[in-house]
Amino acid sequence: MTEADLKYLFSPRHVAVVGASHREGKIGYTVMKNIIDSGYNGKVYPVNPKGGEILGKKVYRDILSINGSVDLALIIVPASIAVNAVEECAKKAVKFAIVITSGFSEIGNIDAEREMVKKAREHGMRILGPNVFGLYSASAPINATFGPSKVRPGNIAVISQSGALGIAMIGKTAEENMGLSTIVSIGNKADITEADIMSYVFNDDITKVIFLYIEGLENGRELMELVKKKPDNMKIVAIKAGKSKVGARAVASHTGSLAGSDKIFDAAFKQAGILRAESLEDGFNWVATLAACPKPAGKNVVIITNGGGIGVLAADACEKYGVGLMNDMEVLNKTFGDVIPKFGSYKNPVDLTGQAGGDDYKEALEKALNEEDIHAIIALYCQTDMTPLEPLKNTFREMQRKYGNRKPIIYSLFGGEGTDKIIEELKGDGIPAFYDVEDAVSSLNALYKAHEDGKKEKRESLDIDESRIKKVIENVAGDGRTQLLGTEAKEVMVAVGLDVPPFKVVKNIEHAVNTAEEIGYPVVMKVISEDIVHKTDIGGVLLDIDNEKEVIEGYEAIIRNCRQYAPNANIRGVEIAKMVPDGVETIVGITTDPSFGKVMMFGLGGIYVEVLKDVVFRVAPVSKREISKMVREINSYSLLTGVRGESRKDIDSVIDTIYRIGILADKFPEISELDINPLVVYEKGAKVLDARISIEVKK
Ligand code: COA
Repeated sequence: MTEADLKYLFSPRHVAVVGASHREGKIGYTVMKNIIDSGYNGKVYPVNPKGGEILGKKVYRDILSINGSVDLALIIVPASIAVNAVEECAKKAVKFAIVITSGFSEIGNIDAEREMVKKAREHGMRILGPNVFGLYSASAPINATFGPSKVRPGNIAVISQSGALGIAMIGKTAEENMGLSTIVSIGNKADITEADIMSYVFNDDITKVIFLYIEGLENGRELMELVKKKPDNMKIVAIKAGKSKVGARAVASHTGSLAGSDKIFDAAFKQAGILRAESLEDGFNWVATLAACPKPAGKNVVIITNGGGIGVLAADACEKYGVGLMNDMEVLNKTFGDVIPKFGSYKNPVDLTGQAGGDDYKEALEKALNEEDIHAIIALYCQTDMTPLEPLKNTFREMQRKYGNRKPIIYSLFGGEGTDKIIEELKGDGIPAFYDVEDAVSSLNALYKAHEDGKKEKRESLDIDESRIKKVIENVAGDGRTQLLGTEAKEVMVAVGLDVPPFKVVKNIEHAVNTAEEIGYPVVMKVISEDIVHKTDIGGVLLDIDNEKEVIEGYEAIIRNCRQYAPNANIRGVEIAKMVPDGVETIVGITTDPSFGKVMMFGLGGIYVEVLKDVVFRVAPVSKREISKMVREINSYSLLTGVRGESRKDIDSVIDTIYRIGILADKFPEISELDINPLVVYEKGAKVLDARISIEVKK
């Protein structure tokens, strides 16, 4: 569905309210009243078999007796008659029906919901809902909801998966004086989906910021693809409800067991450039800021305050969020030197001191706004009773009017009733103003994050031996196995172009000795059997084998141990591999997420990986730029940069390994789980010591 197709849902020329009620307090009455009060300028036709008049409008006994055309019908009759009502609307050639009625698939009444869509489609009508609160659209303008009547038009689109929360959000946006381009819930999405709505909003010429409330996402990858199509200057803030680990399932890899769905959401949102807010409060603050402010031209932020205390609080918050404070004393002196009283300070935070009023702020702000090297401003005010508040408010308004679309200015005012009132008024003008300094800084940080450079990267062509990988996988599938043997997994790693220490499979002692000599001591010996999972625990792995005698004794010991502890295991031989020196042990993995598909993991590896859980995720495929961010995100990153006099490790090799594994995941979708553990990283290079791969056998 294209945005043009939804035009008359958001800008209906005439509307009907089927189930318009005569009784105040009923949903069918409130919707009527809200439509009329919102200044909707098309015709409004109430439909109710009782006839009469509602809110001064003639009531039609059924939709077919309306003479004119109707673009949108609100359906507000009980579920038992809603399907019929929808069919009648469809016959009347209504373009869209918003079915507010609940009692369909959400309570298991799936057939009626399907029937409703079928009847609508037969006549080309589309359905929003059922089980929604209606729709507010500034482009009409129309408030066809049963929420609060006061909705301010603006440039924020609220799209909610939850109806109840959506209604609450209308109230909250009114309280916050926030201007909306639309507010809509998708309810049971029997027909129109959030993707349809978002595609429309991307191109509606009003919306600047989308506030998305997500409860669950069946197809996260679809959302990521969709978000790629948004205009660059449109920003998305999302709240994802429920941080629980859903969709947990039995997996054979560390990567799989470490991948809680919430971590994947975090990663996916980051990659898609969606800002994820932890709370509704943050979400509201951020969207207000994103809607009001332009992209900052650089990282130099200046705090202008009349109180040292809140200035320090703001500076601390900047440090916490990583917001960069300008510290070029020359520029600060040049800008503020002659506006600061003698006892003030032009060091950032710039302290105008307690007696500063509207004019002082004006002078300081204007200078800062005209200084090229200052890129964003946090203006703080602490109520002092030394100066009247009115001129201050006027200054802030004037600054916003003159400079607001050139440079971000965020306000925080602290005091009593008087300052609270100013904050509300500023918000009403679309100016980002907050009670709390921390909220101001967190919002400025969100603005920086939202404008982070998300340039696309071309994929490199790599020397991956696809036919060799294909052969290995076919062989495993042919055997009816879903798990590759360690040696098979390593063969895939070699074919991917990774550095795997030399290894070979041997089936007798003589071959073992020859191979060990060929590879060169010291070597590692490991049993090969799909039936033995914990090889080390039963004595199936021996390290540091240094000579022929140790190879012979080792081979015999491994076979003896396996026969004793796993008498029924199919032993395919013993792997002899080059023993390599210690380095930093990391893990690289792939898992398959039910909503996002293939997901990559990187973290601190070794035997404690599941205890330490120092891992990060991204949805595959991942660009090299994103991988380098990913690598830096682990807590123990300093192990790679070199701690306690140790040398810096080859981080580029790690990035290359993850990149190659991402491409493997993309080219071989049948690989459902993969762990390289450990990937040992050295000053130069990184080696794959062990790999585990599971495949999904197509039936
Ligand atoms: N066409 C038009 N109007 C009809 C009708 C028909 N065929 N048959 C009955 N009506 C009228 C009724 O006479 C009544 O008008 P009145 O109040 O003037 O008498 C009106 O439609 C509503 O019908 P009623 O039986 O009184 O239902 P209701 O108002 O109690 O409930 C719903 C209707 C849709 C609100 C209710 O079924 C429902 O689904 N509520 C939940 C809504 C919800 O929460 N949605 C999700 C939000 S996120």
